[in-house]
Amino acid sequence: MSEKTTSVRNRSAFITGASAGIGKALALALLRDGWQVWGTSRDLQRLDSFSSERGFHPVEFDLAEPSRASHDEFKSADETAGGFQLVVNNAGFGHFGMFAETKWPEWQTQLQAMISQTTALIHEQVRLMRQREGGTIVNVSSLATEFPLPFMSGYNMSKAAISALSESLVQELRGTGICVIDFRPGDVRTGFNKAMSADARDAINAQPDSDLAAAWRKMETHVAAAPSAEQVVAALLRAVKKGRPGVVRSGGFFQATLAPSLIRLAPQYLARHIRWRYFGI
Ligand SMILES: NC(=O)c1ccc[n+]([C@@H]2O[C@H](COP(=O)([O-])OP(=O)(O)OC[C@H]3O[C@@H](n4cnc5c(N)ncnc54)[C@H](OP(=O)(O)O)[C@@H]3O)[C@@H](O)[C@H]2O)c1
Repeated sequence: MSEKTTSVRNRSAFITGASAGIGKALALALLRDGWQVWGTSRDLQRLDSFSSERGFHPVEFDLAEPSRASHDEFKSADETAGGFQLVVNNAGFGHFGMFAETKWPEWQTQLQAMISQTTALIHEQVRLMRQREGGTIVNVSSLATEFPLPFMSGYNMSKAAISALSESLVQELRGTGICVIDFRPGDVRTGFNKAMSADARDAINAQPDSDLAAAWRKMETHVAAAPSAEQVVAALLRAVKKGRPGVVRSGGFFQATLAPSLIRLAPQYLARHIRWRYFGI
C-alpha cells in the first residue's frame, strides 16, 4: 500500500461480497488487524456471523439489481468512513451453460452486474480517491481472463473486461497515489461453484451427450483441490502491502504460474489443446 494510505490511523476498507468465500476471509483478516470494514451482501442476514466483530459495518447491495445503483451505497459508506483506504471489488458469480442454449436474460444479468454495475462502482471509487489523492483499489478478476473456463462465456467476458479496465486505470492513475491491483486467482475452495450448481445440473440434463458434464466434473475436482480462501487472501494482502499496481496472480502452481506462462509462450492451438485437456474436453 502507498505511504499515504499506510500512514492513516483509522484504516477503513470496503469489500463487496463479504458474506462468503474470499470476501469473508478478507474481511475477517482486516478486522483482526484493526481495520474498520464495510462489507456487502444481497441479504444482510448473511452477514450475521460478523455481529460479534468490532469494526464491521454491513451494507446491503445487489449488483444484479438494475433499479438500484450500487455506487449510491458505496458513496454513503465512503462518507461515513471518511474515505476508504482500500476498496475490494470482489462480489461475483458465474453461470455455467452453453452460450446459445442459455436464455439471453441470464447472460444479460451476468454482464450487467459484473461489467456495467461493477464499472459504475469503480468509477465512483476512483473519483472519490482522486479527491483524497490516495488509496488502493483491488478488482478481483480471475485466471479465466487468460485461461477461459469452459461453458462460462459470460463470466470469461466479465473478468476480461474488468482486467482491461484495471490495466487502463494503472496507466491513467500513475503518480496520483492510487494503486490499482488486478487480482487474478486460480481456483479457490469456496462456495462459488455451488452457487451455480443448479444451472449446471439443468444444462447437463438438457445436453447429456455434450462435453458439459465432463467439464463440470473437472471443475469440481479442481476446486476441491484448490487453495483455501484464507491462503488466497494472504497473497492478496501481501500485494496490497507492497503497493505495486498491476496484475497479481494467486493459486496452485499450475494455475497461477505454469498456465499463464504457457498461454504467453506456446502457440495458440497448442495452448488451447492443453486447456481443453485440462478441463477433460
Ligand atoms: N472461487 C474461485 O475459484 C474463484 C476463482 C477466481 C476468481 N474468483 C472470484 O472471486 C470473487 C469471490 O468469489 P468466491 O469464490 O469468494 O465466491 P462465493 O463464495 O460464491 O462468494 C461470492 C460473494 O459475492 C456476492 N455476490 C454474489 N452475487 C452477487 C450480486 N449479484 N450482487 C452482489 N453481491 C453478490 C455473494 O454475496 P451474497 O450471496 O451474500 O449476496 C458472496 O459474498 C468473485 O468475483 C469470483 O469471480 C473466484
